[in-house]
Amino acid sequence: MIDVMGVTKVFPNGTRAVQDLDLFVREGEMLFVRGKSGAGKSTLFRLMMGMTLPTAGKILIEGCDLAAMNRMRLRALRRRMGVIFQDFRLIRGHTARENVELGMRVLGISPRVIRKRAVEYLDYLELTEKANADVETLSWGQRQRLAAARALAREPEIILADEPTGNLDAYLSQRVLDLLLKAHAEGATVIVVTHAQSVLDQSAFRIATLEEGRLIADTEAVDQGGGAHAT
Ligand SMILES: Nc1ncnc2c1ncn2[C@@H]1O[C@H](COP(=O)(O)OP(=O)(O)OP(=O)(O)O)[C@@H](O)[C@H]1O
Ligand SMILES: [Mg+2]
Repeated sequence: MIDVMGVTKVFPNGTRAVQDLDLFVREGEMLFVRGKSGAGKSTLFRLMMGMTLPTAGKILIEGCDLAAMNRMRLRALRRRMGVIFQDFRLIRGHTARENVELGMRVLGISPRVIRKRAVEYLDYLELTEKANADVETLSWGQRQRLAAARALAREPEIILADEPTGNLDAYLSQRVLDLLLKAHAEGATVIVVTHAQSVLDQSAFRIATLEEGRLIADTEAVDQGGGAHAT
């Protein structure tokens, strides 16, 4: 599904954020990515969604080179993705509900379903009370939950979640994780960056560890097996 092949990313200032990285993510797989701050996790995400191009190597999505995709194909691909950014990237000047709804609007979903899903996802993440609040008035934890609601209400095929529980207590972290697990159970390919040991401990899923831009460990899922790719 996502094939990262010998990818290196060097920024103009000389920082080698990702170095000679190989990572193959199967369709429908759930994968956790961990690594210290600065290890290259967010850079890897940006590479996987085509927001930035590799300096060397390539990234294939369903066999197609991201670097060779034109704007239209890239836009079509992003429609199938739900991304929870580490810095949220909510739309200023809009309410919480509008943020969730706007995320779905480009997908051609009927207004009735959009409204229904927005209500459900906001409710599950305990944001109902804030549905009509401007995003700028929300706390960091509320913004994080909203970013999750916005990305996941799209019910995307590919989910990239960058530290989606960083600002949340155990109960709310579990709620976000439950939505990610549900998406995976329904067939989505899910990649989650996390530092949270509690999340990693309970997970029977594959865990990839980055260190200084390199993949230093890649443990297979306990409950998936079959066609295993090990590094
Ligand atoms: N646009 C940029 N220009 C120069 N260096 C960058 C840029 N973006 C990231 N870096 C550097 O690349 C390295 C990897 O950054 P990245 O954001 O991918 O780390 P991370 O693993 O996501 O860290 P964190 O856990 O703190 O979010 C860091 O050393 C960072 O300073
Ligand atoms: Mg990061």
